[in-house]
Amino acid sequence: MDPMARQRVLIVGASSGLGRALAEQYAGKNCDLALVSRDARDLAAIRADLSWRFRVDVRDYACDITDRSRQPALREWLKSLGSVRYACLVAGGTFEGPGNIPDEGAIQKSMDLNYFAIVSLMNGLVSSSFPETILVVSSIAVTAPRGANLAYTAAKTALDTYAQSLRHFIAVRKMNTKIQILRLGYMDSIFTRGLNLRFPVAQAAEVARYLWRIRDTKEGVFYYPGYWWLICAVLQSIPWFLYRRLRF
Ligand SMILES: NC(=O)c1ccc[n+]([C@@H]2O[C@H](COP(=O)([O-])OP(=O)(O)OC[C@H]3O[C@@H](n4cnc5c(N)ncnc54)[C@H](OP(=O)(O)O)[C@@H]3O)[C@@H](O)[C@H]2O)c1
Repeated sequence: MDPMARQRVLIVGASSGLGRALAEQYAGKNCDLALVSRDARDLAAIRADLSWRFRVDVRDYACDITDRSRQPALREWLKSLGSVRYACLVAGGTFEGPGNIPDEGAIQKSMDLNYFAIVSLMNGLVSSSFPETILVVSSIAVTAPRGANLAYTAAKTALDTYAQSLRHFIAVRKMNTKIQILRLGYMDSIFTRGLNLRFPVAQAAEVARYLWRIRDTKEGVFYYPGYWWLICAVLQSIPWFLYRRLRF
């Protein structure tokens, strides 16, 4: 039996895209689940489906993680789960229209979701329940910023940096939690639907299978698909007078 069987996996942002695919992947490996996203009906349908098909225990909590008034109750619910083996903090999104300078509202919403809410969850997990691994989802945008999704890129960059610092904090104190920072390339989801992308688009199920394979081995920053590491390294080495001409 896999050592992860019947251990609990927390997925924040579990109702669609990558979070939904991770829920299916882990349920399929006999893991119990704890699912968080905003829509209670979506969560109830996923709980019913996964607990029936895979005979695992699925708990769910409908909550807007950016709503500070809900955060104490969310923390209580997380405590009530007991030990969590793997925490996947997947929720994220963009609030700006294509080709626009984001207004203050969009910048605030982007920081609230992609940075503050995820950081608050990470901090809570590290200081209370000590999951073996915490996954945060960053983006290739942090190494190759471009003139689109400005607020989203800034918020993910802040998250990526915070997670790297937290990893060092944990290492210095010889704590056991691993921090995984996934810099995700293009993935087919509501997020990318309708966009004219110049690189191949991964499927969420394929990303979830990869994350399952590396769950106990990888730490720190990594890319999926892996070739984005090379593309980002090349993009970072391009001088500005050429970079400014790129359309991607
Ligand atoms: N797709 C890509 O190409 C791509 C590329 C790079 C990075 N990423 C990152 O990868 C992650 C997953 O992306 P995805 O494409 O799978 O996204 P998605 O399909 O839009 O799913 C986002 C999930 O987060 C939940 N969520 C959103 N806002 C929330 C909030 N305020 N409180 C609680 N839950 C919330 C959503 O459910 P509810 O709406 O019901 O709350 C949903 O379950 C995100 O962090 C994204 O930024 C995606």
